[in-house]
Amino acid sequence: MIKSKGADTMTVIKVAILGFGTVGEGVYRTIQSHAEELTAVLGKKVEVSAVLIKNTQKARNISEDVLVTTEFAEILRLPQLDIVVEAIVEREPPFSFLKKAIERGCHIITANKEMFAHHGEELLELAEENNVSVGYEATVAGGIPVIQTLRQLLNINRIKQVQGILNGTSNFILTEMREKKQSFEQALQLAQENGFAEADPTNDVEGFDAFYKTMILSRIAFGEEPNWHDVEREGITAITSEMIETAEKLGLKYKHIATISRTGDQIKATVRPALIGSEHPFYHVEGVQNAVSIQSDIVGEITLQGPGAGMFPTASAVIEDLVYVCKNNKPALRLRALTTN
Ligand SMILES: NC(=O)c1ccc[n+]([C@@H]2O[C@H](COP(=O)([O-])OP(=O)(O)OC[C@H]3O[C@@H](n4cnc5c(N)ncnc54)[C@H](OP(=O)(O)O)[C@@H]3O)[C@@H](O)[C@H]2O)c1
Repeated sequence: MIKSKGADTMTVIKVAILGFGTVGEGVYRTIQSHAEELTAVLGKKVEVSAVLIKNTQKARNISEDVLVTTEFAEILRLPQLDIVVEAIVEREPPFSFLKKAIERGCHIITANKEMFAHHGEELLELAEENNVSVGYEATVAGGIPVIQTLRQLLNINRIKQVQGILNGTSNFILTEMREKKQSFEQALQLAQENGFAEADPTNDVEGFDAFYKTMILSRIAFGEEPNWHDVEREGITAITSEMIETAEKLGLKYKHIATISRTGDQIKATVRPALIGSEHPFYHVEGVQNAVSIQSDIVGEITLQGPGAGMFPTASAVIEDLVYVCKNNKPALRLRALTTN
């Protein structure tokens, strides 16, 4: 690989974080707390140069050396910028910000599944053209390294099916309804009180969040997605306490499960509640936990389970991506970063 002269001489990797909510702050704090490990693995210091926010009135614990701004253009004008981490909500402006970051020659990392499900392909193509990398581990199953695992498996194994419990809020509600005999409304309220569910929980309980993650998984497992309109998507709102109780008497549990499989040329996906027995790998996945089970021809079935959301589990996925994009170093990175301006 031809490396730019700049790449060899640069001793600091400069990062901008877009958004300083649960995920953005988690990434910032993890870069500080794991500075030694990052330097040891990358051979370079990782420094947060800038943070993009929206509300200037909120108090934040950010070092004075860091540029804190509401203007993305200011971040793009920094003399050195290597990686842009995006942890904002909704599709826009994050998509436009990331396109500009790629064109600036930066690697990008995102936690934003809604944006990435809609625009991931375009970002990956643009990154390819600009010789930079895209990390999106945090878009699916929070801290579980499912995308990196699939990337490794894809080398030789032929993947037949991927299943997942991809929405911690839904799994929490179903668990509470079964274990504590709560109604859907009571369990949802508890999820909101504990910060597991948004004030507007539609994306979680109607299966949209799991659907976006399923489409991202499909692309990484099978190289393509099913037609979105052909995917059966159903949330958990139709499941009643009575249904859960009846199932329990039969030794069964309701779980909200995404399934993607390939038959011939056809990719099929469903995102819906399913009744499972104790033989299923997801039977003991409870509360806000997520799980992903991969069936492939050589290794057989692998199940990964862990925290699907939260400040540090999600920051873990972003930081591992940071190492991935740096090690997957494309030659244009530093050259562009140095010559812009
Ligand atoms: N929370 C999780 O556990 C988790 C897990 C995996 C993936 N994700 C994804 O990660 C992303 C961030 O989630 P979060 O939980 O960290 O959200 P959050 O706590 O609501 O934080 C969002 C942040 O984005 C900033 N922001 C919003 N609009 C902006 C704009 N137009 N320009 C600049 N900044 C803007 C907000 O700024 P202010 O602070 O100024 O209001 C806030 O700091 C989402 O896409 C989410 O789906 C979250």
